[in-house]
Parts: sequence; structure tokens; C-alpha cells
Amino acid sequence: MEKMLVVFLISCILHFASAQLKLGFYNSTCPRAESIVQGIVQQRFNTDRSITAALLRMHFHDCFVRGCDASILIDSTRSKSSEKDAGPNETVRGYDLIDVAKKAVEAVCPSTVSCADIITLATRDAVALAGGPKYAVPTGRRDGLVSDAADVNLPSPSLTVAEAFSFFQAKRMTLNDMVTLLGAHTVGIAHCGFFQDRLSNFQGTGQPDPTMDAGLAARLLRTCGTASRPVNRDPTVFLDQGTSFVVDNQFYNQTRFKRGILQIDQELALDRSTAPIVSMFASNRIAFQQSFASAMIKLSKVEVLVGKAGEIRKNCRVFNPRKKTVIGTGL
Ligand code: HEM
Ligand SMILES: *[C@@H]1O[C@H](CO)[C@@H](O)[C@H](O)[C@H]1NC(C)=O
Ligand SMILES: *[C@@H]1O[C@H](CO)[C@@H](O)[C@H](O)[C@H]1NC(C)=O
Ligand SMILES: *[C@@H]1O[C@H](CO)[C@@H](O)[C@H](O)[C@H]1NC(C)=O
Repeated sequence: MEKMLVVFLISCILHFASAQLKLGFYNSTCPRAESIVQGIVQQRFNTDRSITAALLRMHFHDCFVRGCDASILIDSTRSKSSEKDAGPNETVRGYDLIDVAKKAVEAVCPSTVSCADIITLATRDAVALAGGPKYAVPTGRRDGLVSDAADVNLPSPSLTVAEAFSFFQAKRMTLNDMVTLLGAHTVGIAHCGFFQDRLSNFQGTGQPDPTMDAGLAARLLRTCGTASRPVNRDPTVFLDQGTSFVVDNQFYNQTRFKRGILQIDQELALDRSTAPIVSMFASNRIAFQQSFASAMIKLSKVEVLVGKAGEIRKNCRVFNPRKKTVIGTGL
């Protein structure tokens, strides 16, 4: 009797221990999972370095809406608008790469590796390829069962530091985490609509935003046009005007020279609470790389589903079909 109780307790503990993220979660169930994803990211990166930015943003948006559960990947249906079609679906890119990686992983280990882990691993690999830190990230996330455009509530680029921070605090992140993660704007692009207000008539003054370098504002204005007379083709500009494809600390240096593109990026260098962190990262490459690795790992753990929660999707864009319950046939 006592023995049974002990066995029961041990099995409870083991079950509890298994219901969390782990380094090498797929070691035995799909030992090639991480290398398959890595190979596909490498292949894409060879022809399109912008994939790093695409994945970083996808990962952030996934994790900040219902946790890192791949809810961002679900396609809308006629009856239901999913996260990716929310007003600020914000031109997230890279869905096709996740499809390719999922297909390759499914071919060797069907219904084993979650889409949420594939986003996490692919982002990690793309960061390393772009000169960022290499880090080990735990796996074992499960895919969510809900994706609703109405759940999408992400910070806007015109917020103050304090306002933006409230979004990060809600996910148990520190101010240091936020400043570090915004360092992801060291790669990638922004569509003019997200910062056009800074270029010519900032807050109705008839002048560009005084916190932006005047030469830069004039140049961006030529690229973007004004809100009433926009340039055709929905132009974009690099978020880091220094080293646009490298995951490095140049973003912080740029903001110290009034060269932040988004208002929130520039605010980081100006706000009393964040300016010292920006200066430190601008002058200390290693500190940024270390901080970025740990903040990315922290981001990847936000409100994850583990154990038996959620599901392992077969196709990252659609929920698995619900199993029909067979009642009382003994079959
Ligand atoms: C206060 C928080 C944040 C705000 C307001 C914000 C806002 C934006 C905006 C407006 C864009 C331009 C999108 C476009 O024009 O397509 C953008 C791009 C981007 N964001 Fe953020 N962002 C925030 C935090 C983050 C975080 C935490 C990450 C990742 C860790 C991130 C990664 C990126 C990347 C990589 C791009 C470039 C995307 C591309 O090239 O397609 N952002 N962000
Ligand atoms: C998987 O293998 C790695 C490397 O050998 C090890 O660090 C990790 O703990 C293993 N994880 C599991 C869950 O077995
Ligand atoms: C984003 O959402 C808008 C509607 O809010 C839609 O017109 C657009 O096609 C969507 N973009 C993508 C890439 O899904
Ligand atoms: C910092 O940015 C400024 C402005 O773009 C540039 O002139 C300078 O070389 C950069 N410094 C470093 C250390 O990269």
C-alpha cells in the first residue's frame, strides 16, 4: 500500500516534470527536428537575409497574443477572422518559411513537433545567421486552439516608453527586457505609415519631429512622401540605418544620433528610465548579445502551452480536425 503510494507520487512528479519546456524536448521523439529547421532557415537566408527580421517579428507577435502558441499562423476562414488578419496584422512576413519547415519535419516525424516550436527554433537560427547570439532554447510548446483577430492588442510605435512598458510588464518582462527586445529593430523594415507623422508636420507643428536628425527626416520624406501625398508602392525604409541586416548593437548607437525611425525607438534613447540602458548597449556589444539571448529565451516562454494542453497541428495554418467521439459502440 505504502509502496503504491510512493509509486503514485513519483509518477505524479514525473508527469509534472514532463509538462514543461526542456532543452532537447525532441531528442528521442524527433532527433533531427532542430537540424531540419536549421537547414531550411539557412537555405532561405542564403537568398534572402530579410528572413531574420520577418521571423523575429512573427515570434514577438505570436508570443504577445495568447502566448507562444502559433496562433498567429492560423488562416482566417469565411466565418472567423484570425490573428493574422487583425487590423494591425502589421505586415508580418515569413509564413511560407514556416510551412516549408513544418512539411519537412512532418515528413520524418508526423504530428510530433509543434508549429510554436518551429517558429521559436527558426527565429533562433535566423538570429545566429545574421550575426546575433547563438543560444539554446527549450522546446515542448504546444499549438493553441484559438486564433481570434479580436485578441490582438499590440503596442503602437507612437507610444511613450512608459505606455509601451505596460505591455511588457503584463507579460512579466522588465524594462531591461523591453529595451533589449526592441533591439530587434536592428534588422528589418518599416512601412512609411508607421512613422510618416514624424517627417514633416509632427503633432501639427508644420515641422519634422525635432528628435529626428533633420537630414534623415528630409531623406525619409523623399522616400515616403506625406500622408496626403504618399509615394506610390507603399515604400519601406530600414529600421537600422547603419547595419540593416546584422543583429548587432548598432540600433542603439543610431538612436543616440537621433536616427531612430519609429518614435518608440527614438524615445528609448531620450527617456530618463531607458537612456542609460541604451548607452550601455551602444558601447558594449557583448552585453547586448548576452542580454538579447536571454530576453529572446524569456520571450519564447511567454504563456506557453505544455503537456497535454493544445495540440500538435499537422498544418500550421489550420487547427486539426476535431475527433468525433464514438459513443457506446464498443468499437
Ligand atoms: C513597443 C514594442 C514594439 C513596437 C511598437 C513595434 C513596432 C513595429 C513596427 C511599427 C514595425 C514596422 C512594421 C512594418 O512596417 O511592416 C516593426 C517592425 C519590426 N519589429 Fe517591432 N515593435 C515592437 C517590438 C518588437 C519586438 C519585441 C520585436 C522582436 C523581438 C520586434 C521585431 C521587429 C522586426 C524584426 C521588425 C521588422 C520586420 C520586417 O522587416 O518585416 N519588434 N515593429
Ligand atoms: C537532449 O540532449 C541534449 C544534448 O545532449 C541535452 O543537453 C538535453 O538535456 C537532452 N534533453 C532531453 C529532454 O533529453
Ligand atoms: C492584413 O489585414 C488587412 C485588413 O485589416 C487585409 O486587407 C490584408 O490583406 C492583411 N494582410 C495580410 C498579409 O494578411
Ligand atoms: C554610430 O552612428 C553614427 C551615426 O550614424 C556613426 O557615424 C558612427 O560611426 C556610429 N558608431 C559606431 C561605433 O558604430
